[in-house]
Amino acid sequence: MKVLVSRPFPGPAVDFLRERGYELTVLDDGRAQGVFKEKLAETDGVIAMLSDSLPATTLASCRNLKAIANYAVGYNNIDLQACTSAGIVVTNTPDVLTDATADIAMLLMLMVMRRAPEAMRFLADGKFTGWKPEFLLGRDLKSKTLGILGMGRIGKAVARRAESFGMKILYHTRSRAKADLPWPRVSFDGLLSESDVLSLHLPLTDSTRHLIGAVQLGKMKEGAVLVNTSRGPIVDEGALVEALRSEHLFGAGLDVFEEEPKVNPRLWQLPNVVLLPHIGSGTLETRSEMGTTAATSLHEALLGKHASNTVNPEVYSSEVWQSRQT
Ligand code: DGY
Repeated sequence: MKVLVSRPFPGPAVDFLRERGYELTVLDDGRAQGVFKEKLAETDGVIAMLSDSLPATTLASCRNLKAIANYAVGYNNIDLQACTSAGIVVTNTPDVLTDATADIAMLLMLMVMRRAPEAMRFLADGKFTGWKPEFLLGRDLKSKTLGILGMGRIGKAVARRAESFGMKILYHTRSRAKADLPWPRVSFDGLLSESDVLSLHLPLTDSTRHLIGAVQLGKMKEGAVLVNTSRGPIVDEGALVEALRSEHLFGAGLDVFEEEPKVNPRLWQLPNVVLLPHIGSGTLETRSEMGTTAATSLHEALLGKHASNTVNPEVYSSEVWQSRQT
């Protein structure tokens, strides 16, 4: 069977697939536009990236496609319903990137609270003339309230880290309070109004797009901080810029953007904003484990098994999938 790998990534996953007899095509980062779609049309399985858009129109031309292993925990780049109807198994890479992403959320939180971007710019501009007690005062994490919106694996990992910094934790999820968690679940509005730092850990769906807009930012505490390591379009970036310009918010730390890879140029003009190019899972170890997870799931799916980390398990009852197993 033919397997397409959208971009090179570290670790043994590609060899794992080659050793299992797949005819592999690994596209390079500099491939021309359209090449991915062209190759996809003739492949049986693909390891896709979160930057590969897989709408129904593209999937319709993929007659042989049986499985997509998305090299990410989020899968908003894929039309899941179209995959299920076409009998295409979709998998993701949860767990392995939890700690790396939680670390980046803490990094953003610390950098914003301690005004690291302003401090670095000040130093780089040659303005540092000596230590002064009232110079560039940031904020402690200790005793501040961290609000976590979306209490999945990454949300919990951030909460545990923040607790060790002396922060008080609150969370909100659409579902009811999770019995196994030691932290209080509060209403969405309660989370907005009580958090000194609000950290987003939600998937991007129709109901979470622009969930944080002007109204919600207005409900946040004066001087609060927003951290986003989930998906850019959850935040209305224009409204965020206004909340920062008016100094209603103290700062923001963003690893993701509304029109990724484009960054709203107005964000660059703000003093206390930390901007990172979607590196939440970006460590050698994590990206290697993501590859292994994706390749293992893809192999299982191509063998006709119920693959680990399937995000559309209803596909296994679809006629198309079942007819393929006979
Ligand atoms: C994911 O896996 O969804 C992350 O955003 C990658 O860093």
